[in-house]
Amino acid sequence: SRTVSRNADGVVTVGGLDVTALAAEFGTPAYFLDEDDFRARCRAWKDAFGPGADVFYAGKAFLSRAIVRWLHEEGLNLDVCSGGELATALAAGMPAERIALHGNNKSTEEITRAVEAGVGRIVLDSFQEIVRVAHIAQRLGKRQRVQIRVTVGVEAHTHEFIATAHEDQKFGIALADGQAAEAVRRALKLDGLELIGIHSHIGSQIFDMAGFEVSARRVVQLLTEVRDEHGIELPEIDLGGGLGIAYTSDDDPREPHEIASALGDIVSKECAAAGLGVPRLSVEPGRAIVGPTAFTLYEVGTVKELEGLRTYVSVDGGMSDNIRTALYDAEYSVALVSRTSDAAPMLSRVVGKHCESGDIVVRDAFLPADVAPGDLLAVPATGAYCRSMASNYNHSLRPPVVAVKDGRARVIVRRETEEDLLRLDVG
Ligand code: LLP
Repeated sequence: SRTVSRNADGVVTVGGLDVTALAAEFGTPAYFLDEDDFRARCRAWKDAFGPGADVFYAGKAFLSRAIVRWLHEEGLNLDVCSGGELATALAAGMPAERIALHGNNKSTEEITRAVEAGVGRIVLDSFQEIVRVAHIAQRLGKRQRVQIRVTVGVEAHTHEFIATAHEDQKFGIALADGQAAEAVRRALKLDGLELIGIHSHIGSQIFDMAGFEVSARRVVQLLTEVRDEHGIELPEIDLGGGLGIAYTSDDDPREPHEIASALGDIVSKECAAAGLGVPRLSVEPGRAIVGPTAFTLYEVGTVKELEGLRTYVSVDGGMSDNIRTALYDAEYSVALVSRTSDAAPMLSRVVGKHCESGDIVVRDAFLPADVAPGDLLAVPATGAYCRSMASNYNHSLRPPVVAVKDGRARVIVRRETEEDLLRLDVG
């Protein structure tokens, strides 16, 4: 829904605002986030899943108070995975019952705060945590609604998935060897807990529906076992997040309605076959909601042409505002946005200003051969896991997030200052 075009001078405009004016007002690097696009994606998820399901936005992708307010207004729930995310959610007025707390090693303080606040669910991730949450809830005189996170033996990668019995990773409790069934047994015995369902999250940046379908089938199978053993039907299942987005033109992501109907069909079919009532479904998209809604604007500082190799174009940010390329070999695209150019395309690598050679923003890109210091470059699809994973490496100042709406731009997270950095340095 974002309106990106070029004006008569060849300058890219976003929702009617030209990027040179945005750079002049807010500085670079900066993230610009389209509020209408964010809200439209929230509504697309809500509509796709309908009133019989819940959509929890995964706050780890990017969270701020404005984001929480928009989610609240659009009727989404919120998944948090730390005390900091919980504090942000509560500070912005998200009703606690619409918050889910995640994490494989929640602290006693985090659990206590969540139970006290009255969060709608805590997703239990280990045998120790089952007991820990039960004790804390009991001490506070409460009965906490919980789900158990299981690992279903699906390893999802971007374009494929592998279904195995075991997964070699730190999250959740394995379905394999009856471990998840044992976790259910223990949770059902504890007065401090109200076990409302089973949770499964298989990975991130996934394009293949088949992994989600295997996961759904295996979770329903566990509900069936629980019914057979305990005579109860757990009322909810959560199938996590993970839907991929397009970072480059090679990516062909699925739409929310496609995942909603695929999951809805599988769950109802499997439940019908087992004679189970259909549980309430929830999902936790992060990237698919916020990822495409923002781009990063950089200014070119230096250009080095390495004869016979490529041209290194250095921008004023880098791995401190987007670690994904260095960390995951993630692919991004980039465009010259402050002017048009008729110069021939040249193989370029867009790099940051940090002190290591892995500091790459876009590994391979074709930029016009006359790209020069002072030009502005935009990297699209940086709404998810960029600001939220930003660092102060080299004591750089984390960039602001600027929300654009109705031809107006306003800062929702301000740029860090050297004062901010020095405030923490109390030595
Ligand atoms: N639910 C749970 C339990 C999760 O662990 C995650 C992501 C999500 C939902 C949301 O997944 P999404 O829809 O955003 O894919 N930093 C990595 C991604 C890590 C995702 C961790 N968990 C990246 O930049 O690609």
